[in-house]
This record gives sequence, structure tokens and C-alpha cells, in this order.
Amino acid sequence: MAKRIFILLVLAVAVSLWPPSEPQAGDLLLAKVTVPKPAKGKGERCVDDTDFMRRNHMNLLDHQRDETVHSGDRTKRYSLKRCIDCHAVNGEDGAPVTADNPKHFCRTCHDYAAVRVDCFQCHASRPAPGGTAERSVGKSDVAALQSYLRELQQ
Ligand code: HEC
Ligand code: HEC
Ligand code: HEC
Repeated sequence: MAKRIFILLVLAVAVSLWPPSEPQAGDLLLAKVTVPKPAKGKGERCVDDTDFMRRNHMNLLDHQRDETVHSGDRTKRYSLKRCIDCHAVNGEDGAPVTADNPKHFCRTCHDYAAVRVDCFQCHASRPAPGGTAERSVGKSDVAALQSYLRELQQ
């Protein structure tokens, strides 16, 4: 009898210790579903560590934290124009696709994660034929942005 209880105890402990290390929710998710595979960017590396970019790009691009909009001081490192230049993905016609196309770099993950960004209402989502993101933003756009930010704060 005592032996049987001992075996049951050992089994209980073994079961409670299995799996050996508690998997993260993310790992489980990754194991079960196919993950998005964004096209590789141009050049050797991103503007910051790739893993850091995966997790933090939304904060880096935040208007509220961005000095450009308020002071005109251009912090080029996390410029959206540069993201678009390096992360352009060509469509079947050989030209870079816009955010209307599900192949667009930003959409590969966002569609998957059901994230919607409205950035491309104002910002170009592909580089201009010349190389840098087409459609430069003018004075009226800045006014539009300011009212947009006020809306966000409400
Ligand atoms: C209502 C129009 C509007 C919307 C929507 C908008 N922006 Fe902007 N954004 C502007 C304007 C105007 C500027 C300032 C002009 C400039 O520097 O190009 C700007 C500047 C920026 C800059 C600094 C300049 C650059 O090219 O890097 C970043 C970064 C940026 N926006 C990111 C975003 C992101 C991310 C979104 C979506 C979440 C977004 N914007 C949505 C109008 C907009
Ligand atoms: C000079 C070119 C360049 C610029 C500019 C650039 N990137 Fe990247 N980015 C890359 C490269 C190259 C990789 C892949 C690096 C790797 O595989 O380790 C990458 C990777 C990434 C990834 C991870 C993709 C994945 O496979 O999971 C994200 C997210 C990302 N970049 C977002 C951005 C954003 C947002 C900006 C603008 C603030 C930006 N990048 C600007 C070149 C660039
Ligand atoms: C590696 C996958 C991946 C890539 C590539 C990617 N994103 Fe994201 N992005 C995410 C995820 C996931 C979230 C949601 C994060 C959250 O809700 O905490 C997000 C959120 C955002 C947000 C905030 C949205 C909101 O409503 O809060 C912005 C802005 C954004 N991404 C911009 C971009 C831009 C611009 C690009 C292309 C240059 C891009 N992302 C490419 C994965 C990605």
C-alpha cells in the first residue's frame, strides 16, 4: 500500500514537472500556427537590433515621441521614409507594392496580428521611382496631423 502511494506521488510530481520548463504563451502560438515571414530588408541590418525592432518599432515611430513633428528636428534614424525605402517589396510588375497589397512589408505581420495602421493615409507606403518614399508632406499635412493627434488624445 505504502509503495503504491509512493509510486502515485512520484507520478504526480513527474506530471506536475512536465513539460520541463513552462512554455511561454508566445512559444505555444508559434508552435501551432504558421508565422508571418516578412521579406528581408535591404542591406546588412536594420536601424536597430532586429529583435528589438520586431518588438518596439511601434514606439519608435510614435508621433507623440517624435521630435520631428513638434520641433522640426529630424531624427533620421527611425524615419518612416527610411523604413519604406529599405523594406520595399516588389510586386509582379517589378515595381514596389503599396500598402494596398498584402505583400507589403508592414502588412505581412499586421494582417496576421489583425493590426491596422492608418499611417499610409498621409505617408507614402512605397519608395518613389527615384529612390526615396514619394509624396513629401507639406504645411497642410502638418495641420492635418495636428488635428489627428488631438483626436487620438481624446
Ligand atoms: C494626418 C496625416 C498623418 C498620419 C495619419 C500619420 N502621419 Fe506621420 N507625419 C505626418 C506629418 C505631416 C509629418 C511631418 C512631416 C514630415 O516630416 O514628413 C509626419 C512625420 C512622421 C514621422 C517623422 C518623419 C519621417 O518620415 O520619419 C514619422 C516617423 C511618422 N510620421 C510616423 C507615422 C506613423 C507610424 C503613422 C501611423 C501610425 C503616421 N505617421 C500617421 C502626417 C501623418
Ligand atoms: C538600411 C536598411 C533598413 C532600414 C532603414 C530599416 N530596416 Fe528594418 N530591417 C532591415 C534588414 C536588413 C532587416 C533584416 C535583418 C535580419 O534579418 O537580421 C530588417 C528587419 C526588420 C524587422 C524584422 C522583420 C522580421 O523578419 O521579423 C522589422 C520589424 C523592421 N526591420 C522594421 C523597420 C522599421 C519600422 C524601420 C524604420 C524605422 C526599418 N525597419 C528601417 C533593413 C532596414
Ligand atoms: C515582424 C512583424 C511586423 C512587421 C514587419 C511590422 N510590424 Fe508593426 N506591428 C507588429 C505587431 C505585432 C504590432 C502590434 C503590437 C501590439 O499591439 O502590441 C504592430 C504595431 C504597429 C503599430 C502600432 C499600431 C497600433 O494601433 O498601436 C505601428 C504604428 C506599426 N506597427 C508600424 C509598422 C510599420 C510602419 C511597419 C513597416 C515599416 C511595420 N509596423 C512592420 C508587427 C510588425
